[in-house]
Amino acid sequence: MSNILVVGGAGYIGSHAVRELIKNNKNVVVADNLSTGFEKAINKNAKFYKGDIKDKNFLNALFKMEKIDAIIHFAAFSQVGESMLNPLKYYNNNVHGTEVLLKAMVENNIEFIIFSSTAAVYGEPETIPILETAPTNPTNCYGATKLAVENMLKWASIAYNIKFVSLRYFNACGADSSAEIGEAHSLETHLIPLILKAAINKKEYINIFGTDYNTKDGTAIRDYIHVTDLAQAHILAVEYLKNGGHSNIFNLGGGVGLSVREIIKAAQNITNCIIPVKEKPRRKGDPRILIASSEKAKRILNWNQQYSDIKTILSSAFKWHKLHPNGYS
Ligand code: UFG
Repeated sequence: MSNILVVGGAGYIGSHAVRELIKNNKNVVVADNLSTGFEKAINKNAKFYKGDIKDKNFLNALFKMEKIDAIIHFAAFSQVGESMLNPLKYYNNNVHGTEVLLKAMVENNIEFIIFSSTAAVYGEPETIPILETAPTNPTNCYGATKLAVENMLKWASIAYNIKFVSLRYFNACGADSSAEIGEAHSLETHLIPLILKAAINKKEYINIFGTDYNTKDGTAIRDYIHVTDLAQAHILAVEYLKNGGHSNIFNLGGGVGLSVREIIKAAQNITNCIIPVKEKPRRKGDPRILIASSEKAKRILNWNQQYSDIKTILSSAFKWHKLHPNGYS
């Protein structure tokens, strides 16, 4: 049976991908340095190695012990705000870390890699919905590091025996239906978890960043996609490469745009709680609107969404937050 290495498998999206891979009878090896991930998020049926992708000796030792056919790469810092304050930390971890990982892949004859990319590579889009061919002009350093890796993958795949798929996620959210794993960050900045924390009284109110956008209600619009739907796309992407697919890039979004106020309203309905809000100025670097076209992933990967209606997203996330009000700690 094939072995898949998931780097960053203790993080939010990584832990959900591991769970789906195991459900699909894959052998999974997780590598994570636990800098932002949580040991408790690592699936008991996966083999775990604690270490850093910037450490080539660690990777080489791992590849000696485990025969790996494909890598799914989630190991990155992902806080947009922090990336603006500490860009070199992001280049070091996200870009240099991937460079070391690719070098180890080449030396150990591993052919396939699935890369966790982001809608942040587009910046402020010129047309909606966003196609993979749209211009890439990131407005923050996080998006710039992900785009740098996409380019590195492109050139590496031309020079070496490597094939890649980059998956550009829109707004990942929700939790596994078991509520055993879910979204937890030591510093939470994302809209949905913050709203739900307010619903369980772990937060007094929610800030609305920007009420003067040129949108239906003045607040920013995003495309929210359930983490389990994202996870399944990784399995399809591995199959695609193994079946001879060429290196490729896919958007993964729900295709529906919801404003910040619409999300708050939907959360009030699901949780039956009043969520107090404070209107604040726009957050730096936030695009007005991001909505994906995921037609390419549907057509080529045969990807479909099962969980990405906003009710399922919010109720699965709410279940997780109620059961784990302090995340994994
Ligand atoms: N927002 C608020 N109040 C908050 C938090 C967020 O109004 O307390 C707003 C933001 O301004 C934005 C929307 O809610 O308009 C969504 O914000 P998130 O922080 O939840 O998500 P982002 O769209 O900023 O970013 C997410 C991921 C990034 C990724 C990006 C790609 O966190 O990693 O989607 O679209 F790059």
